[in-house]
Amino acid sequence: MPAYSASAPGKIILFGEHAVVYGQPALAVPVRQVEAKAILRAQPGGEGINILAPEIFLNSALAELPLEDAVGKAIRLTLEALGITAPPACTLLISSTIPLAAGLGSGAAVSVAIIRALSGFLGHLLPDEQVNELAFEVEKLHHGTPSGIDNTVVTYARPVYFIKGEPIQKLEIGHPFTLVVGDTGVVSPTAKVVGDVRLAYQAEPGLFENYFAMCGGIATNAALSIQKGRISSLGPLMNDNHEILQKMGVSSSELDQLVLAAREAGALGAKLSGGGRGGNMIALVEPDRADQIAQSLQDAGAVRTIITRVG
Ligand code: PMV
Repeated sequence: MPAYSASAPGKIILFGEHAVVYGQPALAVPVRQVEAKAILRAQPGGEGINILAPEIFLNSALAELPLEDAVGKAIRLTLEALGITAPPACTLLISSTIPLAAGLGSGAAVSVAIIRALSGFLGHLLPDEQVNELAFEVEKLHHGTPSGIDNTVVTYARPVYFIKGEPIQKLEIGHPFTLVVGDTGVVSPTAKVVGDVRLAYQAEPGLFENYFAMCGGIATNAALSIQKGRISSLGPLMNDNHEILQKMGVSSSELDQLVLAAREAGALGAKLSGGGRGGNMIALVEPDRADQIAQSLQDAGAVRTIITRVG
């Protein structure tokens, strides 16, 4: 049996995080500068599936992984989908350059890479639609009540206009644009922040429904601007979205500091991206200013910056 490898990119949410959990539209794009990779190799003389993920200190047989382990769940769901109960002896090697719990889709990318590599290795590469469905099931371990946006953008590796529970809609990019992604270095598990937003929503439903609707309106306007190539109107929309996320209680002093530093350095707009309270922010920049703004973010405390072109 020949070895089989698969990879999946990171992602950022451009507009609509959190509100997307409550049925509002959101926009997300892949970030190809970072990726997760999975390689399956036959292990003659071995037994079952062995998993090696040195970055997370994982070296275990599948049978020993607890049911709530995300890697184990991705493997078990894939075997189940293929109707395979006794897989051939093999080793699964997992690696990733996507920072963990930072809003860059690390969990979803690892799941997608595993599902593709394992199904391909076993001779039945699953179609994207099924990869996406299985990765969504794994996301429930990471996020509790995920909207499905992470697994969707990572599976299809293209910009998406996403509404929970609806078929994927392509987001056409009328004119390319450049983003600088700045990492606060603060680890912030999405499930905790999503849970806190739910509590706040339950305490003040009217207020939060209003916030969610405003985020949805911004995402819809942004999608139109992106499709028409009206890039300059995206900056103010990012700033507005950040302000609502602040009111929802999902920003942090580190995120606000980087957002402010980007704007002061000449970004057209900036906001947090993903679950918030840590992780990453994004800034829309003129392409020739990207390096300078990335440097300003590092000076303001970003532990890593990525410059990415959309479209
Ligand atoms: O994985 P993250 O941190 O990019 O967050 C996902 C975005 C949320 O809207 C906060 C949650 C979700 O399931 O959509």
